[in-house]
Amino acid sequence: MNPAPAAIEAPALIDVRGLRKVYNSGAERVEALADVSLSIRGGGFVGIMGPSGSGKSTLLHLLAGLDRPTAGEIFIDGQAVHAMSEAQLTSYRRQRIGIIFQQFNLLGTMTALDNVMLPGVLDGRPEAWLRQRAGELLESLGLGGRMNHRPDALSGGEQQRVAIARALLFEPRVLFADEPTGNLDSTSSRRIWEMLATMARTRDLTILMVTHEPAAAAHCHRVFIIGDGRVTDEIDVGQHDSAWLAARYQQIVDHGDH
Ligand SMILES: Nc1ncnc2c1ncn2[C@@H]1O[C@H](COP(=O)(O)OP(=O)(O)OP(=O)(O)O)[C@@H](O)[C@H]1O
Ligand SMILES: [Mg+2]
Repeated sequence: MNPAPAAIEAPALIDVRGLRKVYNSGAERVEALADVSLSIRGGGFVGIMGPSGSGKSTLLHLLAGLDRPTAGEIFIDGQAVHAMSEAQLTSYRRQRIGIIFQQFNLLGTMTALDNVMLPGVLDGRPEAWLRQRAGELLESLGLGGRMNHRPDALSGGEQQRVAIARALLFEPRVLFADEPTGNLDSTSSRRIWEMLATMARTRDLTILMVTHEPAAAAHCHRVFIIGDGRVTDEIDVGQHDSAWLAARYQQIVDHGDH
């Protein structure tokens, strides 16, 4: 009889090892990330929480290829992001991942539809295909009636949904979100969280979201806590609600206990 083959572990979708980032601005030297390692298998909605200045945005920027690490390795969907050339990073950012920010970063002179199509136009994709794909994405995000509106004729929540559609144009497997509802009221925020949670459940999409709000993180299935440039804890959210999560988070931040 042949021995059973050894189980081969599928590589994680997001794998970060020993990540360090030091900013040198003039005489100031800031160690924003000291030593971050984390692994996310893929599929799901994952949160990142931590005090202001703990390095959350820095971490997301490095994973999204917007800045380069001082040391460490970043593997996203099998690609070694830390080792990419500038040209590779440009195509990685445009095609392999999506990213949304607290400021929606839409172009004010363009309609919602044109904003969503823009990364594809820059990439030289056929316009008919882009128009159809962008239209379908906007429809699916409840914006079928807003395609020809410019950003100043859209609510904040609608603008963020346009930004989400734009981020998903090339069907990335990973979406990064840095406090996506930081500028929104509670009703619009809830709608965005529910949409992100649904997308993570129903598409081949893993979402990594930085947030200050326990009500946002309660939509995640797992939350990493960052403190002083390291991952200090990990919360398995499961079926718990935002009150439980808020208390658990406070306990960690106040005492660092488990
Ligand atoms: N471009 C930069 N140059 C120098 N220092 C920076 C730069 N960007 C961030 N920092 C510093 O690095 C540290 C981490 O910043 P970061 O923006 O990652 O924090 P954060 O956890 O996202 O905070 P917040 O919750 O307030 O958004 C801070 O001390 C910040 O001042
Ligand atoms: Mg930040």
